Amino acid sequence: MICASFIVDCTRLLFKSRTSSALFGYSKQHYCAYCQHKYRYPVMTTQDDREQQLQQINRIIHGYTTSRTLMTAIQLSIFTHIAQGNHSVEQVAQAADASPRAVNKLLDALVGMEFLKKDKPNHYELLPCSARFLVKSSPEYVGAMHENDDHWIAWSNLNKVVKTGQPCMTVDQEKKAEEFFPHLVRSLHQMSLGRANRLAEKLLEGKQDVALEVIDIACGSGVWSIPLAEKCSNVRVTAQDFPKVLELTKSYAQHHGVDQQFNYLPGDLKTVDLGQQKYDIAILGNIVHSEGEKSSKILFQKLAKALKPQGRVVVIDMFPNNDRTGPAYPLIFALNMLVNTTQGDTFTFEEYRQWFIEANIPHVFMLEVVPDFSVIIAQVS
Ligand SMILES: C[S@@+](CC[C@H](N)C(=O)[O-])C[C@H]1O[C@@H](n2cnc3c(N)ncnc32)[C@H](O)[C@@H]1O
Repeated sequence: MICASFIVDCTRLLFKSRTSSALFGYSKQHYCAYCQHKYRYPVMTTQDDREQQLQQINRIIHGYTTSRTLMTAIQLSIFTHIAQGNHSVEQVAQAADASPRAVNKLLDALVGMEFLKKDKPNHYELLPCSARFLVKSSPEYVGAMHENDDHWIAWSNLNKVVKTGQPCMTVDQEKKAEEFFPHLVRSLHQMSLGRANRLAEKLLEGKQDVALEVIDIACGSGVWSIPLAEKCSNVRVTAQDFPKVLELTKSYAQHHGVDQQFNYLPGDLKTVDLGQQKYDIAILGNIVHSEGEKSSKILFQKLAKALKPQGRVVVIDMFPNNDRTGPAYPLIFALNMLVNTTQGDTFTFEEYRQWFIEANIPHVFMLEVVPDFSVIIAQVS
């Protein structure tokens, strides 16, 4: 229904758009400037607005085409084949054991997407971004998590998952976790390392000369604890994860030259004994969102006992605002948890604060590490 004030004065100038989605950059809902009623029907827009809105919808709804193109290129090792000296369609097709006609289309699309360049006919080269991050032998390779279709398949089932409320596949049991996570954590390591270094600097401020015991729960590659050990020889890390994943952690610790400072605590975080008053810092990197509320609350209680006085829990995760109206990424990531886990979700600062207080870890605050990257710190008295 249109509200009365709209009829009185129906020029666009009287209406404010409220940004309801960072992805759209404009409102899908319209409010009357006088009475703040929300309309079910769109107000009149100019032709420019209409075009812009349609382009935004189009861009988002066809996002799968660019996503799938890049994933296919990763899965067929296209960037790696080019790095190894295969520059023509025929050479790449042979190296990838694929159809030359199809490879031609794929390579041209990657040129259009600015992952490759083609300065002369039938000669494709890597651009700096793809050479650095998409070639398997590169130390900064981030494609590992897309070498299989696990994420793609999970998201393809979103309709069914929304209807039933149940994920089609979960990765929280040890056997599946040990297959799934090594790919993911290899990519996460590269993507998080820069931020992890900045976080380590912040956590070590004023503590360079103090011996620090750190436990990195569900550590994956150890990306959040390795920089602490690198920056301070007094840091000792207990790396906790499933046994197979810890083999990978060990290789990262060795690669970074800090293996001597690492101990390993294999097992399921739900059942593993964390001990009493042992640690100065407990790191929870990207694990609360997959554990969900019930299991995380129990974990916080175990951590309250495992931490020394003044000990800190550091939560690295995605935090929607307290009203759950943004930012878009943590809200969309909650869907990622819906399709992949039974209890996972993203949680607000206020939710974390309550859970920590209930667990007797009363001092809770948000620490901005760099713009666009904040962590939650909770400190024992
Ligand atoms: C998303 S990765 C995060 C890894 C790392 N903390 C990071 O931020 O890059 C989740 C990690 O949690 C581990 N994990 C998941 N469920 C677990 C459980 N029940 N017990 C121990 N580790 C678990 C996985 O093996 C994986 O290494």
